Amino acid sequence: MRRAFILLALTSIVAVGSAPAGAVGAPGSPAAAQPAAAEPAAAEPVAVDADDLTPTPPMGFNNWNATFCRAEFNESMVKSMADIFVSTGLRDAGYEYVNMDDCWARPQNGPLGSRDAQGHLVPDPVRFPNGIKAVADYVHSRGLKFGIYHDAGTKTCNGQGFDGVLGQGYVAGNRRYEQIDAQDFANWGVDLVKHDWCNVPLSQVPPCTIPTQNPPCSGPRNLKARELYRTMRDALDATGRPIVFQVATLGDPGVQPWEWAADIGAQYWRTTGDIRANYTSMSNIAKFNMTLADYQRPGRWNDADMLQVGNAREGSGTWTLTEQETHFSLWSIMASPLLIGTDLRRATPETMDILLNKDVIAVNQDPLGVQGRLVRPVTNGQYVLAKPLENGDIAVALWNDTLSEQRISTSAVEIGFPAARDVYLMKDLWSKKLSVSRGEIAATVPPHGTVVLRVKLRPGPPGRPPVE
Ligand code: GAL
Repeated sequence: MRRAFILLALTSIVAVGSAPAGAVGAPGSPAAAQPAAAEPAAAEPVAVDADDLTPTPPMGFNNWNATFCRAEFNESMVKSMADIFVSTGLRDAGYEYVNMDDCWARPQNGPLGSRDAQGHLVPDPVRFPNGIKAVADYVHSRGLKFGIYHDAGTKTCNGQGFDGVLGQGYVAGNRRYEQIDAQDFANWGVDLVKHDWCNVPLSQVPPCTIPTQNPPCSGPRNLKARELYRTMRDALDATGRPIVFQVATLGDPGVQPWEWAADIGAQYWRTTGDIRANYTSMSNIAKFNMTLADYQRPGRWNDADMLQVGNAREGSGTWTLTEQETHFSLWSIMASPLLIGTDLRRATPETMDILLNKDVIAVNQDPLGVQGRLVRPVTNGQYVLAKPLENGDIAVALWNDTLSEQRISTSAVEIGFPAARDVYLMKDLWSKKLSVSRGEIAATVPPHGTVVLRVKLRPGPPGRPPVE
């Protein structure tokens, strides 16, 4: 798909969204300005076919769920994640992007603000004393890709955040920073940008009148969001560096990125508010994200948010290993990006077992690039999702969203195989148990658990006895 490069101007402003409470960031000590990067000759804009950048859902790491903006988020941590990707086999299992989230730049409310005299964002000198390019170079040296975080408004989302692309105190007609920030990112070697939706000044755009996200409401706010994100996407394209673009509108009920993100050239888009490390949060996100399967296509992904596997429970409820396996299973069958959100320096063997389940990862990364979807309406808390795979197999997830053990059954025909009398070979992707079936697919599933099966039509002519 090719995109025309259109220069868009934002013509009106009102306040949108407030920064969610977050941990305190590093002290905003006076910063040595980032050495001004030599301005390269403007590269010939490259209209990268977005389907080429993420042919399967992005996999990697993002620090946010592990650190928020606490001081432990720094160069040393990011480099450690890259090292652990290599030493534990996570890189070889497909985890590719090491992404930094909010607070990587000098805080807007610090003594020197976020930008230098030329308008460049200045990396936080305490967290990243060697600048961002040094971190990106290190990540690249480990055979990985590097992602960064930005915001479509005047300031990123955390209280200690930095200037968004509109800059502090933006009013219509003021200088904007999409081009300068995009070029800096390209100069630093950034491969992915997560673009958030906080402190976005929009005017004459009434807030969405439907208080919930479902059914979604489309309105002028949604259209303004599309223009703001398209402007940043085009600025990144104009650098000539292929850069993955994520739309992150933190579950704003007035914005439905799944309606337009693919069209403006984004590779993936958040569909809900932030995930928390507990079953209620995870399951609510899964239930909404799975309703959007029609908006996904190869190279364009619904993003159910970053993984909470390995993190201690946040808030109320429970966050058991079974529930974390369900989390990984559902994100995989829904073809959501798999971005590890736990500090791998403290990951337990159980956490690594989940993150390194290559059979489940293969379902998520299957080249056919189709999001799994419900095969029938949900009854008794039983969710049955099927994901067609490129080699003709079908992956099926049997999710028990209740507090009592349940037998969940479906059939080869219900999940999408032709209605022939055939024999099916099945593999349980967590227990690794192999079985044979004439068509019935069933499992006893623990409370809040999920059984994932990969179902294959037995090769050869139908009608032979099930076991030869
Ligand atoms: C939120 C976003 C989170 C994280 C945070 C940083 O809006 O949804 O994923 O990026 O901002 O402040």
